Amino acid sequence: MCIDSQRERVGLFHVHSTMTATNHCFFNLCFFFLLLLLLLPLPASFHPLCTDSRAPVYVNETLQFCGYRGRACCDSREDLQLQRRFESMNVSDPNCAPLLKSILCAKCDQFSGELFSGSFFTRPVPLLCDSTSEDMCSRVWETCENVSIVGSPFAPSLQGGATPPVSSNVSNLSDLWKSKTDFCNAFGGPSGNKSICFSGEPTTMNGTDVEPLPPPKGICLEKIGNGSYLNMEAHPDGSNRAFFSNQPGKIWLATIPDQDSGEPMGIQESNPFVDLTDQVNFDTQFGMMGMAFHPEFSRNGRFFASFNCDKVKSPGCSGRCACNSDVNCDPSKLPKDDGSQPCRYQAVVAEYTVNGSSSSPSTAKTGKASEVRRIFTIGLPFTSDHGGQILFGPDGYLYFMTGDGGGSTDPYNFAQSKKSLLGKVLRVDIDTIPSESEISKLGLWGNYSIPKDNPFQEDEDFQSEIWALGLRNPWRCSFDAERPSYFMCADVGKDTYEEVDIITKGGNYGWRVYEGPYLFSALSPYGKNVSEDSSLIFPVLGYNHSDVNKNEGSASIIGGYFYRSTTDPCSYGSYLYADLYAGAMWAGIETPEGSGNFTASDIPFRCSDDSPIKCTTAPGSSSPALGYIYSLGQDNLKDIYLLTSSGVYRVVRPSRCGFACSKENVTASTGKQSPSPSPSSPSGASRLLFSDLDLSLVLVCSLVFVSLGLF
Ligand SMILES: *[C@@H]1O[C@H](CO)[C@@H](O)[C@H](O)[C@H]1NC(C)=O
Ligand SMILES: *[C@@H]1O[C@H](CO)[C@@H](O)[C@H](O)[C@H]1NC(C)=O
Ligand SMILES: *[C@@H]1O[C@H](CO)[C@@H](O)[C@H](O)[C@H]1NC(C)=O
Ligand SMILES: *[C@@H]1O[C@H](CO)[C@@H](O)[C@H](O)[C@H]1NC(C)=O
Ligand SMILES: *[C@@H]1O[C@H](CO)[C@@H](O)[C@H](O)[C@H]1NC(C)=O
Ligand SMILES: *[C@@H]1O[C@H](CO)[C@@H](O)[C@H](O)[C@H]1NC(C)=O
Ligand SMILES: *[C@@H]1O[C@H](CO)[C@@H](O)[C@H](O)[C@H]1NC(C)=O
Ligand SMILES: *[C@@H]1O[C@H](CO)[C@@H](O)[C@H](O)[C@H]1NC(C)=O
Ligand SMILES: *[C@@H]1O[C@H](CO)[C@@H](O)[C@H](O)[C@H]1NC(C)=O
Ligand SMILES: *[C@@H]1O[C@H](CO)[C@@H](O)[C@H](O)[C@H]1NC(C)=O
Ligand SMILES: *[C@@H]1O[C@H](CO)[C@@H](O)[C@H](O)[C@H]1NC(C)=O
Repeated sequence: MCIDSQRERVGLFHVHSTMTATNHCFFNLCFFFLLLLLLLPLPASFHPLCTDSRAPVYVNETLQFCGYRGRACCDSREDLQLQRRFESMNVSDPNCAPLLKSILCAKCDQFSGELFSGSFFTRPVPLLCDSTSEDMCSRVWETCENVSIVGSPFAPSLQGGATPPVSSNVSNLSDLWKSKTDFCNAFGGPSGNKSICFSGEPTTMNGTDVEPLPPPKGICLEKIGNGSYLNMEAHPDGSNRAFFSNQPGKIWLATIPDQDSGEPMGIQESNPFVDLTDQVNFDTQFGMMGMAFHPEFSRNGRFFASFNCDKVKSPGCSGRCACNSDVNCDPSKLPKDDGSQPCRYQAVVAEYTVNGSSSSPSTAKTGKASEVRRIFTIGLPFTSDHGGQILFGPDGYLYFMTGDGGGSTDPYNFAQSKKSLLGKVLRVDIDTIPSESEISKLGLWGNYSIPKDNPFQEDEDFQSEIWALGLRNPWRCSFDAERPSYFMCADVGKDTYEEVDIITKGGNYGWRVYEGPYLFSALSPYGKNVSEDSSLIFPVLGYNHSDVNKNEGSASIIGGYFYRSTTDPCSYGSYLYADLYAGAMWAGIETPEGSGNFTASDIPFRCSDDSPIKCTTAPGSSSPALGYIYSLGQDNLKDIYLLTSSGVYRVVRPSRCGFACSKENVTASTGKQSPSPSPSSPSGASRLLFSDLDLSLVLVCSLVFVSLGLF
């Protein structure tokens, strides 16, 4: 089958130039899916990512051997290893040696993940450009043809992904390959919009690292829906449709109006795509927290919901308790006021399918409410901080964000525990489901397999599902649509600080040792002072509670997206995020690019006068009264939405609110311009009178408020 290895899936998304090897696949693939791929505007940019799926890091000091600096995939240790490898090859030819060195050093390139990825394997050397303008492949052949190399990386036996041998075999290229043509058929490839190859130089990112971006002057919104939703997911078929879900457990399929059309979104509240309210335990702290559609949903109709259930009300909805002997937790000692029995409430990921003809799932208007498969179940020790977002990464794997399980301060230190799945980013493969006996042998928590490149796959101390640890209550994570190594998660804080992290493979984000940058509780249950662990990763953005709400101190961060739409060119490249209490929105800008040095600007927002649904203005302010912001959403054109207790808002052209943006092509736009209102502070928007409440609690409180008509 075509879709059973990760490489191939990645290949489908990136459309590599090495089509020959995957040709047989294309016939097996549904024609429809291919057609979609061809019709979709695939990004013409390449993805900074390292060969081992790690994100590139920022290298301050030029690497001594390889010379890379800035965003790169090597540190000084790997630089030294490459130097040793190069020296062991014993190449003295003054022309061939630098070429060979540059090829080895391409491992340090910020795009090494792309340069070294074959259709089925990781290449021993990067794809060498063989187009007429940058003919690296011919250069290598013509320069090195007769030069002997010890343990040559060009040995034919390595084609197919074998690990380079520590061999003392001495060979010339001409011993290994009959001709330049054979050599370049094996190692060369063209450069183009959809493939990337090595031309002898470090690959550079265009644009933004030269000049720091100025922050946008303001965000202009229009209101396109009255409903109150927790999640929005663009339809995977690339159309102008998106799914919306609410906390009680319904999902709707809505149409998104064109920008400047003056239309509201098309949604029929009485006619949901699927109604899972029977299965979902909806209560102050519980409900349906996430949904995700398989990247090939249009072909296979598979979709997933993440929700809570109550094993007392739904017998059978019960999994292993997160409080167990592996993590030094005795369920009988859990507080009684948090449920009549230990681990009564569960966090669940379940799989569903569309209702209708299986030949064209994309046309389905409804889904079946009966569960196809249970992916994951875990008993929750306390009643708050469940996280619960699920999303498919650009690698095709399912990411599941779990909270620390609550209990106020994570008393059992689950978020730091290597054996607990709480307070984590988990990464699993839901396309390959092992047999029941295999699952229990591997000690998995559900029906999925572990991707081969998960960081702790072979570490006995860790649960193999873990991608990253040390989170408290991750509320909304996203991959940058242009750079998948920017996997951003906002993590809700406890008393002091709300944070945004760049999630990297195996990263530890510090909770409950740190809350943001501040020491919280340094002692682990193992008695070690973990604050001295230098491997902890600190947030790239965040704010003190006192910064957003000087009186009440309440705050709860809502993670967003890197803005990648053409609608508001002045916001392009900023990471937009917000606070639940709707008092503030920020744009995070990184300078220089790849450095992790982000600066946040408080961004004013207004509602356009010609909004399809008129916005209510907060008293004494020109900002719209949004109520609570629950989540941000992104459609297939990468336009950004705010899902709030007062409705659905979309980011539109800045000129519609009178915000200056010189990059906006105002004359080409059709909408009328509103007069420039005087600048206003966004902090005039509604302030709410809650003390430090958990996010989930507030979600429901506000639903009640909405129904009471207080917003
Ligand atoms: C890189 O430079 C910054 C600022 O000069 C410094 O704070 C940081 O510690 C440096 N990082 C490394 C790994 O040397
Ligand atoms: C390295 O090359 C030199 C000649 O260029 C040769 O004398 C020496 O034996 C080689 N070393 C190894 C380990 O092959
Ligand atoms: C390599 O050796 C072959 C045969 O001796 C010769 O024809 C060719 O020109 C040599 N190539 C280089 C780059 O010296
Ligand atoms: C790359 O894309 C641009 C714009 O989409 C197009 O003009 C150009 O011809 C493409 N180049 C190649 C090599 O396909
Ligand atoms: C950078 O821009 C140049 C021309 O403007 C283009 O040829 C090149 O492919 C771009 N590089 C990347 C990595 O997008
Ligand atoms: C939204 O609510 C407003 C005020 O109740 C109403 O006038 C409007 O028709 C509604 N719009 C839609 C699209 O439901
Ligand atoms: C499934 O689709 C059929 C026909 O379109 C419809 O009659 C039925 O009510 C749908 N079932 C659900 C659960 O939506
Ligand atoms: C795995 O799937 C089976 C069959 O759907 C289900 O009974 C079981 O509960 C699932 N396991 C978990 C841990 O969710
Ligand atoms: C742990 O280490 C940190 C940093 O060295 C220190 O500030 C803190 O007091 C230590 N805590 C305990 C309980 O030893
Ligand atoms: C944020 O809060 C901490 C702890 O209360 C305090 O030490 C710090 O100075 C505050 N920072 C700012 C920028 O207000
Ligand atoms: C971090 O960003 C700020 C604001 O753009 C800039 O002034 C500063 O030089 C940057 N710091 C580093 C170490 O690059």
